[in-house]
Amino acid sequence: MPPRKIIIDTDPGQDDAVAILLALASPEDMDVLGITAVAGNVRLELTQKNARIVCELAGKTDVPVFAGCDRPMGRQLVTAEHVHGKTGLDGPSLPDPTMRLQDQHAVDFIIETLRREDAGTVTLCVLGPLTNIATAFEKAPDVIERVQQIVLMGGAYFEVGNITPTAEFNVYVDPEAAEITFKSGVDIVVMPLDVTHKALVTRPRNDAFRDLGTPSGIAVAQMTDFFERFDKEKYGSSGAPLHDPCVTAYLIAPELFSGRHINVEIETQSDLTRGMTVADWWGVTDRPANATFIGDLDADGFFALLVERIGRL
Ligand code: BDR
Ligand code: CA
Repeated sequence: MPPRKIIIDTDPGQDDAVAILLALASPEDMDVLGITAVAGNVRLELTQKNARIVCELAGKTDVPVFAGCDRPMGRQLVTAEHVHGKTGLDGPSLPDPTMRLQDQHAVDFIIETLRREDAGTVTLCVLGPLTNIATAFEKAPDVIERVQQIVLMGGAYFEVGNITPTAEFNVYVDPEAAEITFKSGVDIVVMPLDVTHKALVTRPRNDAFRDLGTPSGIAVAQMTDFFERFDKEKYGSSGAPLHDPCVTAYLIAPELFSGRHINVEIETQSDLTRGMTVADWWGVTDRPANATFIGDLDADGFFALLVERIGRL
């Protein structure tokens, strides 16, 4: 099978960075057409810069990086420096990027790419708030049916929420964008907290990254060292959850994941439950299924894949 053509839409973020490294290390599985940055974990000036830092860390300076929306579709931006640090990539000390940012707006790149490539051959890997994706769908509805699949990190059912008691960060930040995406009719695979909280970097798993001895391996270990303190304190867990790499790992090894094809609706009206993913896991409504909602993964297989691939960089 030829590699799958993908666009990575992202708000790096240490876990976004690992997801991007995995994709860039896997050319036989993924052809990264471009990386589109969005405001989320930190402001857009930093997410687009961080995306370029990660490309340079991987030695892949030919991947075009675009800046997209600097705020949600209809709300104030909420960021997560309390999780990711001031830069969004706190942990390792990485040089400022020298590769340039593309002039084109990320939304226009997404539209143009979907129109240029054969219909049904481009997958959108979404690692942050869905603002760029929904804005593209609003601006150019003709591209919606051209998307092969959206694989996204967002939402929760059993784990409920991480930024509020009832919402996961990516969906919380821009619930209107999430609603547009989930109603689009595109084939969607969702990596909610239910699965990402099982992708935990334990001490031996982080040592395996560090022991690679390469700049990427060491940087991943240092990012995780920083990133884990938040979840350890909050959940008492044994390490950091690698949320976003679940998206790119799924494209390489979907057999590591299991879930259900169900209906998922987004709460946009209530202040109390803003951004909740109302997932009909138990099939108690007759609302049509619109997403494959992942619930479990083979964590050892997932980390073996990550270490093997990142070791190539
Ligand atoms: C998601 O929010 C961000 O903090 C992470 O990068 C991930 O995409 C987890 O809720
Ligand atoms: Ca992210």
